[in-house]
Amino acid sequence: MTAFKTLDDLGDVTGKVALVRVDLNLPMQDGAVTDDTRIRAAAPTILELSEKGAKVLLLAHFGRPKGERVSTQSLSMVVGAVEKTLGKEVMFVPEIAGDVVKQAVGILRAGDIAILENTRFWKGEEKNDPELAKAIAANADFYVNDAFSAAHRAHATTEGLAHVLPAYAGRSMQAELEALDKALGAPEKPVAAVVGGAKVSSKLDVLKHLVTQVDHLIIGGGMANTFLAAKGVDVGKSLCEHDLTDTANAILATADASGCTVHLPYDVVVSKEFAANPPSLRTCNVHEVAADEMILDAGPAAAETLGDVLKTCRTLVWNGPLGAFEMAPFDAATVALAKTAAALTAEGSLISVAGGGDTVAALNHAGVAQDFTYISTAGGAFLEWMEGKELPGVAALSA
Ligand code: 3PG
Repeated sequence: MTAFKTLDDLGDVTGKVALVRVDLNLPMQDGAVTDDTRIRAAAPTILELSEKGAKVLLLAHFGRPKGERVSTQSLSMVVGAVEKTLGKEVMFVPEIAGDVVKQAVGILRAGDIAILENTRFWKGEEKNDPELAKAIAANADFYVNDAFSAAHRAHATTEGLAHVLPAYAGRSMQAELEALDKALGAPEKPVAAVVGGAKVSSKLDVLKHLVTQVDHLIIGGGMANTFLAAKGVDVGKSLCEHDLTDTANAILATADASGCTVHLPYDVVVSKEFAANPPSLRTCNVHEVAADEMILDAGPAAAETLGDVLKTCRTLVWNGPLGAFEMAPFDAATVALAKTAAALTAEGSLISVAGGGDTVAALNHAGVAQDFTYISTAGGAFLEWMEGKELPGVAALSA
């Protein structure tokens, strides 16, 4: 893992101005924040800096306003939710640079916290304009990046600022990088990866990279059907990218050459319609799927075998569900395997790291998210990390 400075490397910060990049791209409904996970993730860094007496200026994006001020995407809307989670008053500043921020800094006392406006209201943010980074930096003494989930973007506040101010990883960034390093950087072997989700096309680079890195690759969800079809299995009416069967075969060949065992389900749960507990529901061998049936989950025998694979492994990295987990009973294989992973983690034989939007929802649904070694709050950034890419926001923090 590349070395980076953390908050432990800061000297006395009393009265100093910290620019802290956090991820406040929060789910909202009717003007209210519906899930404060990302605020809770950033809270330790914000509160630590505040307690150490820094003036804390939070930088974040919200939505994709494309360089225009859009009133419905102002970060003023999340101030109340941030105050509630932090248990502290937070000032809102409707700019990110210039005199308005300078005046706000003058008003703030040591330990006070302010949220600056949505960074994406300025065109220079997504262009990673060095002039914008310099203008933002002019009102501050140092920069802390605590937004791993935005670190795959090379933007002025996720990357550029690290080049113009002393730069540190926040506590959540630090925890994320340490956990991810344990999972794929320098993992205890054997390593298993679970990759699920609807489409091979959305995770092509993830699969290509993982087959060269892990000992066991468990493929689930709709994307398993494309691999089954590539192996000559008739998947009936299942979701399947038939145009990608050559690509799937190439991935399987790379896996063979790299000593990675790819696991596909050999029994499956099928139905003629995608509905909860449909009358046509049945479990069968993958070779017995009828022309009018869809594969909607891995079968119970496959789930048990996959659990046995995890029992032989020391490290697990998980992204994506094994079936259409949002509808019963197509959540069964995901829930069973997640419970096995959680139990192995609890007994100390497995390091389990999971990430990505659907994955966290699936593990919460299985009731085991808290039992995993680490759950990433990142979506796109987690996937790019699984592709083996260097994330610009992380690279810029390298000491
Ligand atoms: C996210 O919500 O995954 C991050 O905040 C990144 O947002 P973006 O995909 O709009 O860059």
